[in-house]
Amino acid sequence: MWRWIAVLCGVCVGVTRAYLEDVSGEVEAVEGVGVGVFVGGLERIVGGTEVEPGEYPYQVFLRVSKGETSFVCGGSLLDTTRILTAAHCLDGLAAPENIVAVAGEHDFTVLEGPEQERVVSVMTPHPNYQGDPKLGADLAVLQVSEPFILGGVVQVAPLAPPSLDPTSGSSCTVLGWGTTSENGSVSPVLLATTLTVERRETCEEIIVAERPTAVVDETVVCAGGDGLHDTCQGDSGGPLICGGVVAGVVSWGLGCAHLGMPGVYTSVPNYLDWINAN
Ligand code: ARG
Repeated sequence: MWRWIAVLCGVCVGVTRAYLEDVSGEVEAVEGVGVGVFVGGLERIVGGTEVEPGEYPYQVFLRVSKGETSFVCGGSLLDTTRILTAAHCLDGLAAPENIVAVAGEHDFTVLEGPEQERVVSVMTPHPNYQGDPKLGADLAVLQVSEPFILGGVVQVAPLAPPSLDPTSGSSCTVLGWGTTSENGSVSPVLLATTLTVERRETCEEIIVAERPTAVVDETVVCAGGDGLHDTCQGDSGGPLICGGVVAGVVSWGLGCAHLGMPGVYTSVPNYLDWINAN
């Protein structure tokens, strides 16, 4: 039996090495990064796979501190000083300075080089946000006073035009460092997965049956529900990318990756004027 384990491990290490060398060309990185690749590659719990560092250069890592604890949210870089995120990431926060925004992040447990870290100085939740993502308007714009420097793995997000409403059945990509299962732990490396857009009427029926006061209208996009792929806790605020543009903001869901239960994303086209004005 041990022989087989040894053989299997040999294969695993080989694959990890080959993958890493392919991506980075640096053999020295194998020990440290190998674990991350390995975990990301094996778990795939909400269907996530590790992105290549810099593949989504507008993805922002948000570390939010509340008292003794801190949690993770995602965001999209709008320009050198502004970040789009979910309003509920700011729930109960005393000051914007409790949020640290990192652009150029990939593995948040390792200082890899291209990260740019800024303390948030202004936080503007949408005025219609009522303290519960299920009631809608779950978006916010954050501002930093020291601009991010664009270039390489730090770029501005392409936002969906006002006319875009992702068609049901089409595929969109979601990103995040959130938990890889409903009660699991966050991912150290940025993961991505692909979701299918759900018909809004179908989504509303499914969700309102469970949460009668939830708002599922043209201000949101529903996606997922295959029971395998979903966003989860910690992914909030990050982008829903459809046709290469940011069409949504990760907002909420009932559990994670439950079969037949789509996740809800704040519609970017619907709020484009407000986003551009704030
Ligand atoms: N509210 C979560 C967050 O704060 C995002 C949940 C998305 N859930 C889902 N099943 N799609 O990170």
